[in-house]
Amino acid sequence: MTVQTLKIKRPDDWHLHLRDGEMLEAVLPETTRHFARAIIMPNLVPPVVTNEEAKAYRERIMQAVPSGDNFEPLMTLYLTEDTDPDDLEQAFKSGTVHAAKLYPAGATTNSENGVRNFENIMPVLERMAEIGMTLCVHGEVTDPAIDIFDREKVFIEAVLDPLRQRLPQLRVTMEHITTSDAVDYVTGSTGPLGASITTHHLMINRNAILVGGIKPHYYCLPVAKREEHRLALVKSATSKDERFFLGTDSAPHLDKAKIDVCGCAGIFTSTNTMACLAQVFDDENALDRLEAFSSLNGPKHYQLDANEEMITLVKRDIPTVFPASITTPDGPVTVFDPMTPLYWDVES
Ligand code: DOR
Ligand code: ZN
Repeated sequence: MTVQTLKIKRPDDWHLHLRDGEMLEAVLPETTRHFARAIIMPNLVPPVVTNEEAKAYRERIMQAVPSGDNFEPLMTLYLTEDTDPDDLEQAFKSGTVHAAKLYPAGATTNSENGVRNFENIMPVLERMAEIGMTLCVHGEVTDPAIDIFDREKVFIEAVLDPLRQRLPQLRVTMEHITTSDAVDYVTGSTGPLGASITTHHLMINRNAILVGGIKPHYYCLPVAKREEHRLALVKSATSKDERFFLGTDSAPHLDKAKIDVCGCAGIFTSTNTMACLAQVFDDENALDRLEAFSSLNGPKHYQLDANEEMITLVKRDIPTVFPASITTPDGPVTVFDPMTPLYWDVES
């Protein structure tokens, strides 16, 4: 029985991995069912580096959109030390590409072609600052001497803050923040800075990965931190601060690649993200802030209009049942299990 409904503007996902080929076909409907737009991550193999490659990838995504769904992929370029500022400017001005993604080399899945020496991308970053193009940052240092749970905090101090001081007009998205340090950095800053927060980092702490056996489906990067950090993320997502918005970082990997001696980082949340978020916001008595987080703050940061269309979320008196996995020709991809009942769903 329905106990409550909530109407909000159709949400967007400001950080999404769709992959390519059969995986793209399998996962895309899970996003287009609820979301109007998404910032598409460029960490394919090989990565999406040039304007031409972004246009071609965009075409492949459009081909895979289920008929009847309206979806606009907002493309990104993968920054390398060889990125051509002119090509990047053209990509941005053509309207296809909305941002460029900075992966420190070795920080995460398919980041080997990322940046080793940040000095070498200064001309590109200066151009981005000039033309108002957003830099999406995977904010973790890769120094083996730095503990994995400290890599975000150290990145902010050692790389991000000095960079923003050097180029204060550069628009920056701190992607998938996981710590109270990142929250504090955003709230204490001035200038064009926003931060995306994932569904899973609002719902799990590091115990999910490590207590009662090792749980590869909860492993992602940046890795989930202590409970105090999760609480800081929930507080910022449900606050009135417009600089925090949804970026799911939904990252599909085949189960066989997750459950391995060296399992891949990534959690697939597209299927139940809106139900998870409604539950988190409901538990915080902050349902009136859900629309801002999932549908208003992101477009504002990316200087786009919010969607016109609305969706309705429904709360029932029995938990919603989501599929445990989705099927691909190469095997299943496990859907995020939030380890708590979800009473919300999106009305279809
Ligand atoms: O957990 C993650 N998975 N973090 C990332 O930064 C990349 C992503 C992926 O591509 O699988
Ligand atoms: Zn990601």
